[in-house]
Amino acid sequence: MESARSVLEDLNYRDVYGAVRIMIDFCSEYAILCAEITTESKHMAERIPVRNPNEISKLRKAGEVSARILMELMPIIRPGITTKEIDDYAAELFRREKCGNAFLGYSGYPGQLCISVNEEVVHGIGGRRVIQDGDIVSLDVGAIVDGWYGDNAMTVPVGNVSEDARRLLAVTEEALFRGIAEAKQGNSLMEVCGAIEDFVKPYGFGIVRDFVGHGVGRHLHEEPQIPNYRPRYPLPRLKRGMILAIEPMITLGSYRVKVLEDDWTTITTDGSWSAHFEHTVAVGPHGGEILTERPRIALPEQLGISL
Ligand code: MF3
Ligand code: CO
Repeated sequence: MESARSVLEDLNYRDVYGAVRIMIDFCSEYAILCAEITTESKHMAERIPVRNPNEISKLRKAGEVSARILMELMPIIRPGITTKEIDDYAAELFRREKCGNAFLGYSGYPGQLCISVNEEVVHGIGGRRVIQDGDIVSLDVGAIVDGWYGDNAMTVPVGNVSEDARRLLAVTEEALFRGIAEAKQGNSLMEVCGAIEDFVKPYGFGIVRDFVGHGVGRHLHEEPQIPNYRPRYPLPRLKRGMILAIEPMITLGSYRVKVLEDDWTTITTDGSWSAHFEHTVAVGPHGGEILTERPRIALPEQLGISL
C-alpha cells in the first residue's frame, strides 16, 4: 500500500492526463471504425446482384455448358498427355459448344482453361508439362452464354494416386458441398465460409487464403468475395437469387502460395499437393442450387478410401 501510494504521488498529472486522452482517442476511433464496418456490411449486401428466375435459367445454361466441357475433358487426362494438348482439346470443345470463353483474355490470361498439376494450386497455363501416372490435375473452366457466365472446377486423379492425395480430393470436394448446403437465404455468407473451414480443419490440410470464391453473373467476378475460412471482417446476409462461385482450394501442407514468373501459375510454397473444386450456385430457400450440375468424382467410395 505504502509503495503504491508513493508511486502515485510521484506521477506527474500531466502524464496521466496525456495517457487518458490517448486512450479516449483510441476508443472513439475504434468505435467509429466498428460502426463503419457494420454499415459497410449492410451496403455490401446491396452491391450483390440478385437474379430473378428468368436470369437464373440463363445462368444455368452457361453453367451447364461449363460443366459439360469440364466433364468432357476428364477422359483425356491420362499419363503422357501435355497440358498444352489438354488446352487444345478444350478449344475444340468451346468451338463445338459455340459459347464464349470466360478465362481466355481475362486480364490477359492466355489459356482456354486453367490446368494445375500437383503442387500447382490454380491458374496453371497449358504448356510442355507432361501428365504422369499418380498426378492430380485441377481443371477450371468458365463459359459465357448470351453474356451470362458459368464457372466450375474439379481435380482429377490420374492412375495410381497416393492415399493422401485421394483423401485430399475427397475432402476438398466434400468441403465444397458443405459450403453449398449453407448457401441458403437468410444465412450469413459467414456460414458458407465457416462450413468449409470447419469441415477441412480436422484433417490438418492447408486452406489457401490468397484466393477466394466470388459472385458471378454478367461478369466472371462480381461481389461478394467468398473466402474458404471465416474472415476477420463481417460478411453480408444471403438473399435468394444471389449467384456464388464457391471454390475451396486445399493443400496437403501449408496454405501459403506463390505466383510464378508467368504471372499466373500459383504453387504451394512448400511443394505440397493441392486440390480445387468449384460450382456456381444460386442462393435458394434450402441451400445452394447448383447451376454447374455434374456428377461427383471424389466421393470416398469412388476413391476407395474412408474419411
Ligand atoms: N475459377 C477461377 C476464378 O474464378 C478462374 C479464373 S482464371 C482467369 O478466378 F484466367 F480467368 F483469371
Ligand atoms: Co471461380
